[in-house]
Amino acid sequence: MADFSFFDSISYELDLVENGLTKHINSNVGVINDAAAHLIKAGGKRMRPAFVLLAAKYFKEDIIDAIPMAEALELIHVATLVHDDLIDNSDLRRGKATVRSRWGNRTSIYTGNYIFAHALTLLEKYDRLDIIDILADTSMKICDGEINQMLSCYNTSLGLKSYLRRIERKTALLISVSCQLGAMISDAKEEQIKALQEYGYYLGMAFQITDDILDLVADEKTLGKPTGSDIRQGVITLPAIYALNHDPRREELKGLLGSPELCIDEMERIIEIIIDSDGIDYASYAANHFADLALRRVALLPPSPLHKTFIDIAEFLSVREY
Ligand code: IPE
Ligand code: IPE
Ligand code: MG
Ligand code: MG
Repeated sequence: MADFSFFDSISYELDLVENGLTKHINSNVGVINDAAAHLIKAGGKRMRPAFVLLAAKYFKEDIIDAIPMAEALELIHVATLVHDDLIDNSDLRRGKATVRSRWGNRTSIYTGNYIFAHALTLLEKYDRLDIIDILADTSMKICDGEINQMLSCYNTSLGLKSYLRRIERKTALLISVSCQLGAMISDAKEEQIKALQEYGYYLGMAFQITDDILDLVADEKTLGKPTGSDIRQGVITLPAIYALNHDPRREELKGLLGSPELCIDEMERIIEIIIDSDGIDYASYAANHFADLALRRVALLPPSPLHKTFIDIAEFLSVREY
C-alpha cells in the first residue's frame, strides 16, 4: 500500500481495511482466491477506501462502522481493474503481472465478478437501500463509460464533451461516491454530503485526466502499469484531442489515430506529435481546473483538522507521477 502522509489520521482504520480485503476472499475455488489476492496484495494507492474513511471521520471520531464500506469501495475498484486489464490486454498492474496475463481471460471474468459480488455482501450490514441504489447506479455507469470508450476507439472526430462524459463515468463517479458514502454513514448534513460528493467528482475528473497524461509521459516502472497503452488501443484522450484540433500536423495525426495498425506501429510518432502540440500542457491545465473546483467544495465544509487533508490530497493528485 502506498504510504501517504495525508492518510495519517486514518492509518489505524486503513490497516484494518488492508487486513479485511484479503481475509474476506475465501472462495472454495483456489484459483479465484489466488488471482484476487494477487492483485489486492500488489498494493495500489487505496484512494477510494481512504476517501470513505476520511469523509466519515470528518463528522465523527469513531468510524469503525465505515470499514466494510471502505473495503467494498476498494473491491469494486479492483473488480473494474481486473476487467479493464482484460479489455485493454494489459500485462502489468500495480507493478505485477495482471490477472489476465497470469490466469487468462476466462479466469479474469469470473474473478472480477466474484470480487464485485463479494463487495455487495459487505454492504448488507448497513441495511440501507439508498446505499445499494447509489452503488448499483455507479457500477452501471462505470460499464457505460468503459463500453463507450471501447466504441469510441480510433474515432478522431469525437471531442471534449464525449471525452469528459466518458471519464466521468468510468472514473470520477466512483471516487465521488466514496466521499459521498463516507459522509452518508457518518453524521453529516445534506449540504455537507453534497459538498464531499462534488469534491470527489471534480477530483475524480482531475484524476483521470492525469492518468491519461501519465499514459503518454510517465515512467512505466514508477507507474506500475504500461505506458502508451491508450495510443496502442486507439483510445483518444484529452492531450490527443487537443493535438487533433490545434496541431499543424493534425491531418497526419488523424490518419495515424484512425488506424488500428498505425496506432501500434507509429505509437512513438503519435506521442511525439501530441507532446509537441502542447496537448499535455492543455490537459494539465484542465486537470488543475477540476482540482480547483474540488478545492472550492472543501471550502464549504466546517472547520476540522481534516480540512487540510482534503486540500493536500487534491494538490497531490494534480502533480502525481503514479
Ligand atoms: C486506476 O486507478 C484506474 C483509473 C481509474 C485511472 P488508480 O490509479 O487509483 O489505481 P490503483 O488503485 O492505485 O492501482
Ligand atoms: C480505467 O481507465 C477505468 C476503470 C478501471 C474503470 P484506464 O484504462 O485509463 O485505467 P488504467 O490506465 O488501465 O489504470
Ligand atoms: Mg486500462
Ligand atoms: Mg489509463
